[in-house]
Amino acid sequence: MRLDKLIAQMQLGTRSQVKEYIRNGSITVNGQVVKKPEYKVAEQSDTVCFMGRALCYQEFAYYMLHKPSGVVTATKDRQDKTVMDLLQGAAGKDLFPVGRLDKDTEGLLLITNDGALSHSLLSPKKHVEKTYYAECEGTLSAEGITMLEQGVDIGDEKPTLPARVCRVKQSGNTYSLELSITEGRFHQVKRMIGAVGGKVTYLKRISFGGLVLDETLEKGAWRALRQEEVEQLAGRN
Ligand code: URA
Repeated sequence: MRLDKLIAQMQLGTRSQVKEYIRNGSITVNGQVVKKPEYKVAEQSDTVCFMGRALCYQEFAYYMLHKPSGVVTATKDRQDKTVMDLLQGAAGKDLFPVGRLDKDTEGLLLITNDGALSHSLLSPKKHVEKTYYAECEGTLSAEGITMLEQGVDIGDEKPTLPARVCRVKQSGNTYSLELSITEGRFHQVKRMIGAVGGKVTYLKRISFGGLVLDETLEKGAWRALRQEEVEQLAGRN
């Protein structure tokens, strides 16, 4: 990879600042000052230093976004603000959201450029668990809970796979619950609640593949995943 490209990917500065650092001799490769932006480096094996400090090249980037309502899960949209618009300033090329949340759904969204991990997390064969907190209109009966737990007909070819239901709180004609599912069908949670006679009025994803939403993140805020979080997600492959 070109030296200027590698350094730009590490968010050390703008493209022109990076070129300036290289030209003024602030960058060494394997101990030698390199002043050519087009110099080719082996990013995995060469030691690149900026003002004497080794830079660590990471091929992939991983972020957790607390998605707010009103933002679409897409990389580009003509009309609406996208989740990628919220990731301004994040390092990493070709970032994309892993799976999708509806425009009105909030909560945990993983953003990465690691296609293999994304593929694995979304693979229907892997049954990666996603947990949602939902507020609903209606009454959730014991029979409704059993239906959700056993698999429910939501109008698709097959009923849903068994889900986990917990923290059900009924209050008058509304209730809240946590629902853990291992598939990713279109509007799945809303349709499952619809199939047991309720209507989702608020939906938030609180975990994905063991990764738990960092509640210190304000809506619309993001942070890089910690190394152990990445390893834990990858361990599910
Ligand atoms: N299920 C839904 O209905 N909507 C989402 O955004 C995610 C899961």
